[in-house]
Amino acid sequence: MTKPRIALLVGSLSRDSINRRLGEALARLGSDRFEIAESTLADLPLFNRDLDAALPAPVLRFKAEVEAADGVLIVGPEYNRSVSSALKNAIDWGSRPYGANSWKDKPAAIAGLASGALGTAPAQQHLRNILSHLDVHVLPQPEVCMSMREGLFDAAGDIADAATRRFLDGFLSRFAGHVARFGKVAA
Ligand SMILES: Cc1cc2nc3c(=O)[nH]c(=O)nc-3n(C[C@H](O)[C@H](O)[C@H](O)COP(=O)(O)O)c2cc1C
Repeated sequence: MTKPRIALLVGSLSRDSINRRLGEALARLGSDRFEIAESTLADLPLFNRDLDAALPAPVLRFKAEVEAADGVLIVGPEYNRSVSSALKNAIDWGSRPYGANSWKDKPAAIAGLASGALGTAPAQQHLRNILSHLDVHVLPQPEVCMSMREGLFDAAGDIADAATRRFLDGFLSRFAGHVARFGKVAA
């Protein structure tokens, strides 16, 4: 059986992003259930609706990747109690031109890793609002709001602690069921 294709969006452009590390660890952990490939946000220009008439190549590439995916996994930081500007910019591009919403009916799951104690929970609440406006089916539970700590990742970049790995594995299994349920919903 072919595995569902998942577009991984990492909300941080930082070379040393802890969220990319988490996204990559999730991709490896879920490799028995999904084909997860990152869709980069780094080359997207700042959103400007004046470009709608002739969308830049990175925007066309990004929209095509989202549309081809069976689901979307968003792993992002919290910036000033909300989503990063890079992620919001990508979401805005995906939502336009008017009537060409690439997000419509996509199953999605979200996760975040922060240096702060709240583990991106405030940002994720904002993200859920935004995605609901765009007709995205976001996995309700579990909420993956994690705080960075020494030793979270092992030398290979995987989650070191067995209990945390089990928790994330359960998250991915719930997401697999969610993709099967909501994937390819008729327009
Ligand atoms: C502009 C900015 C705003 C931030 N705001 C928050 C915040 O509201 N809550 C939080 O927990 N961490 C905040 N942080 C710290 C991030 O959690 C930390 O930089 C983390 O490494 C970001 O993830 P990344 O490594 O994937 O970029 C902020 C960092 C930056 C650069």
